[in-house]
Amino acid sequence: MVSGGLFAFLLSGKKHKKIFERITFHHYNQKVVTLLFGNTILLRNKKNSMNSLPVTQESEQKLFFHNYARFPIAVTHGEGVWLISDNGTRYLDMIAGIGVNALGYGDKRLVQAISTQAAKLIHASNLFMMQPQFELAEKLLTLSGLSKVFFANSGTEAIEAAIKMARKWAVRSGDENKKEVLSLSNCFHGRTYGAMSLTAKAKYVDGFDPLLPGTGMIDFNDIADLENKVSAKTAAVFIEVIQGEGGIHRISQPFIDRLKELRLQYNFLIVADEIQAGCGRTGKFFSYMHVDADPDLVCLAKPLGGGLPLSAVIGNEKVADVLSYGNHGTTFGGNPVACAAGIAMINAIEEDQLMQHAEETGTSMNEELQKLAARHSQILEIRQYGLMIGITVNKEAKYYVEKALQKHIVINATSQNVIRLLPPLNITREETQKCITALDEIFTEETAAKSC
Ligand SMILES: Cc1ncc(COP(=O)(O)O)c(C=O)c1O
Repeated sequence: MVSGGLFAFLLSGKKHKKIFERITFHHYNQKVVTLLFGNTILLRNKKNSMNSLPVTQESEQKLFFHNYARFPIAVTHGEGVWLISDNGTRYLDMIAGIGVNALGYGDKRLVQAISTQAAKLIHASNLFMMQPQFELAEKLLTLSGLSKVFFANSGTEAIEAAIKMARKWAVRSGDENKKEVLSLSNCFHGRTYGAMSLTAKAKYVDGFDPLLPGTGMIDFNDIADLENKVSAKTAAVFIEVIQGEGGIHRISQPFIDRLKELRLQYNFLIVADEIQAGCGRTGKFFSYMHVDADPDLVCLAKPLGGGLPLSAVIGNEKVADVLSYGNHGTTFGGNPVACAAGIAMINAIEEDQLMQHAEETGTSMNEELQKLAARHSQILEIRQYGLMIGITVNKEAKYYVEKALQKHIVINATSQNVIRLLPPLNITREETQKCITALDEIFTEETAAKSC
């Protein structure tokens, strides 16, 4: 090893050409740089991998598989409904981490619950009983009136668990062929093989076949197709009462009523995917409560862990003893920190009456959006359920997402031509008005640019 002074001397010494020529750099794994004099190591510098690449789109392309179309923004923190980037720009977040951040950013009760639990116990596994899991399970059973809970980590895992439970439950009927699991066209249930096999859109499925056998799809809200497709072979029908990725479409009451009648006839399970619409977003804790879907299994995720990975399957008496020891499980599912966050999140929703707030704020947003629709021909339709809002526009919604971002508003596109809004449930009217004003400006500017 050489001192810094000698090192500088070696490098600066043009006159010492011979010495200089023997100095070489050696890169190992792009992380360790070694300066050699002949075979002697002069200096070894380990690059700090945290700082080695700037957080830019260019680095993102280098580091990651190319499966996310990320915004060209590096965010560092959040405050309330505002997301703040590394250059200090404040963005009004109307998508809330894709429907996760029900309380926005930095809710003190949530942060306190997470840090208190983290100081006590971060992980122990389901080899043990843990108080936060018990408390959250009790809350979910009280809210749903159902009987049993299974915790997992993500939405797609909850769906996988529900598929497995449905098939295992159906086997008991004695009919070996009662394996069929159905979903509705235009739906989204996740990206693992079972959930993906129930998912409608080609873009999520193409190239990944063969999919799970024994799955099929019923046309959304088409009662005749429902009657055609379900049979004694059906183990379960998966529904999103309000389709999220599908563009914010609500299942019809007659469709639900017929589905329930057919369940009586053929004895299958109704599984409500509440992953996006659940936890109060639509004004009720579960969106199926709007149509009295009376599900046998309910899947929750997204906001459930207050921003930490957590999902749940909740089941009624019919399925209460479907699993036996070792049948199903996950190392991290029901992590105590995530459960503590979930309890704090639900308590805050109740304390702050956020379901009522979501309903009222959503309704007032709808009124304002209808006014925009009357003035801007780009808006074709508005569908609003609490703070789950879809605006169908007459071109690719991506265009408006980019324009909104330029105005420091984060919105999102789904189903090609639908602008989706899923703001934090505690957003104020003044804050929603900022989004409405920005959209108004964007539509006005677009029309003005066309007429030039
Ligand atoms: C209705 C619905 N189901 C399932 C999922 C999958 O959840 P995750 O991304 O947590 O696996 C999503 C995610 O967007 C969803 O909206």
